Amino acid sequence: MPRAPKSSLPDAPDVATLTADEAASEHARLGEEIAAHDRRYYQEDAPTVSDAEYDALRRRYEAIEAEYPELRGIDSLSEKVGAAPSAKFAKVRHAVPMLSLGNAFADSDIEEFVARIRRFLGLPADADITLTAEPKIDGLSCSLRYERGRLVVAATRGDGFEGEDVTANVRTIGEIPQVLMAEDVPDVLEVRGEVYMGHADFAAINARQQEAGKPLFANPRNAAAGSLRQLDPKITASRPLRFFAYAWGEVSSGGLPADTQFGVIKAFARWGLPTNPLTVLCHSADQLLAHYRMIEERRATLGYDIDGVVYKVDSLALQERLGFVSRSPRWAIAHKFPAQRAVTQLERIEIQVGRTGALTPVAKLTPVTVGGVVVSNASLHNEDYIKGIGGDGEPIRGAFEDKPVDIREGDWVTIQRAGDVIPQVVDVVLERRPPEAKPYAFPTVCPACGSHAVREDDEVVRRCTGGLICPAQAVERIRHFVSRDAFDIEGLGEKQVQAFHDWGLVKEPADIFRLEARDSDPQALTRLKNREGWGETSAKNLFAAIEARRRVPVNRFLYGLGIRHVGETNAKRLMRHFPSIEALREAALAAVPPGEEHPKGNEAWAEIVGIEGIGAVVAEAVVDFFVEPNNEAALDALLKEVTPEPMESVAAGGAVAGKTVVFTGALEKMTRDEAKAMAERLGAKVAGSVSKKTDYVVAGADAGSKLAKARELGVAVLTEEEWLELARSG
Ligand code: IVH
Repeated sequence: MPRAPKSSLPDAPDVATLTADEAASEHARLGEEIAAHDRRYYQEDAPTVSDAEYDALRRRYEAIEAEYPELRGIDSLSEKVGAAPSAKFAKVRHAVPMLSLGNAFADSDIEEFVARIRRFLGLPADADITLTAEPKIDGLSCSLRYERGRLVVAATRGDGFEGEDVTANVRTIGEIPQVLMAEDVPDVLEVRGEVYMGHADFAAINARQQEAGKPLFANPRNAAAGSLRQLDPKITASRPLRFFAYAWGEVSSGGLPADTQFGVIKAFARWGLPTNPLTVLCHSADQLLAHYRMIEERRATLGYDIDGVVYKVDSLALQERLGFVSRSPRWAIAHKFPAQRAVTQLERIEIQVGRTGALTPVAKLTPVTVGGVVVSNASLHNEDYIKGIGGDGEPIRGAFEDKPVDIREGDWVTIQRAGDVIPQVVDVVLERRPPEAKPYAFPTVCPACGSHAVREDDEVVRRCTGGLICPAQAVERIRHFVSRDAFDIEGLGEKQVQAFHDWGLVKEPADIFRLEARDSDPQALTRLKNREGWGETSAKNLFAAIEARRRVPVNRFLYGLGIRHVGETNAKRLMRHFPSIEALREAALAAVPPGEEHPKGNEAWAEIVGIEGIGAVVAEAVVDFFVEPNNEAALDALLKEVTPEPMESVAAGGAVAGKTVVFTGALEKMTRDEAKAMAERLGAKVAGSVSKKTDYVVAGADAGSKLAKARELGVAVLTEEEWLELARSG
């Protein structure tokens, strides 16, 4: 055996001096060299270089890639595709990468696949070409490395280049031989195939999980993956996993038992490896398609999940010539089955309200099994979908009748499950429609809070307008209300908002300002300082931060209400036009004439849409918000607590932006927190102590040591009045 090379680095020139061509060829050479060292290290336990030499190779390889990022291609060792192996298992570098297959769905894709192969090989259109066809097993792929017939390493696919070492777990799978006993087993043989779980075993495992009060597996594939990737092999041993061999990785040279795909798989079977009995040889696209249909028909009775049929060029010499394109072989393709469907009864339609107020219809179904998963909910998308109308206004169901077929409660419906997507209702079995079934009336009020739910032009989604009080939106809205660009209440983040909501303390914005009073009420059951996550100081600070926001610029006030389409800019546009929130509200109410539901082209409406930058969509959202009576009450409650102040005019960039300020002594016009927040809003930094870096010290009554320090360091000292003047001057 030729001696394995030592590290090739010692005299290498600086990466920066390499030409692009030199870099490319050194990169390729280093890649091979590193992969070879990996193989010797990980799989043969026989490294030929020291760790330091190996590290130097890797560093050089990465340095070249840093200089020439275009080399970070598919064959780059640094390039990781798909899921990286989990840190909890040791890693195994695959000597030959575990790649994936291209997908095909239509018959014509398969004809094209065969034609492409002929073209690539320069064969006439009618040349005989032999391919294998076999089920595509829906499990997880695994590589089994046998050395001198003994199973030494088993690894998951991982990212295709590096997988997880699951040897101990694989040894518990009865179907996988520990030893291959035959004369012609090559010295090194990596068998690749799929670990899967059968339907009956899956059902039994889930029954066991249920009994033990443990979460159920969604499907056999997940159960197989969860079982194989257990840290404790005893658990894997208790899960009945199975295996089909269908491919191979590294094989010692000249060691393959045949020169065809079919021949090698037959040898695998002879050596005791499980292979799929539905594997056949075909000689044309038509034969492939016929086998596909046969397998599809038998799919439900196989006892394990498959998701398609795989076709592979049989001749290994041709496979070699065809090679790979990107990460898939040109000589193979996966012909996938269409999504799985089932028919069941739609018991009722439930409307769920999302965090942003979107009303989403969900079909509550009589539970039915689709591809091994019990489905009892399915998506109905939106109002139009229920009516049978697609985004383009055309019927999506019932096109033959030329009028859309709608979905009704009580209907028998076809549901579809494809991959990981939420099951969907795709069709209605009209012949089974109960005579009493009525067209579904999509609610125009929010089921969570009773506020109006409206649809904007060109929008399929209907939304609740009761943002301020709707419990489904409360957390999201309050979070927005207290956020930095709105009321900016320090100490009230997402977590705290959720907790206050869960404790029933904050249901709408006004509640925030009632917190302290409620907290000090002797009747209060639990004081905030005694609640989880809070203490005396944090409660005090929070109340102070809230107090500081009883006055806010009116644009922030409006923005904080979370009206659809009213972001910071539109809030400013609106409040530049209207002198107050009240004035805006009056205009909005006047835009909807009595007895009407929507704004009409009257003067008030014209005034709102006429504001520069405010179009009909924004104006309508504003009107919808103010006319909703639930919002009116919540807004009144809020206005009792908070006084909107004139609009913020000073942008960051004003006189105090970027300055460091220290407040000391008692302020008269505002609390310390308020002063701090105001300074920060204007872009200043508020510090707790005076240093040479301090720009201003704002001294109130009875200022002490900080004032003295400022004088000592020559830092500018301002009175509260002077500070406010400076702040306003920006
Ligand atoms: S052949 C070079 N044959 O499908 C490609 N793969 O989508 C070697 N799979 O990662 C794969 N059944 O996990 C092949 N009969 C079969 C298969 C099969 C399932 C999986 C395998 C692969 C994935 C590609």
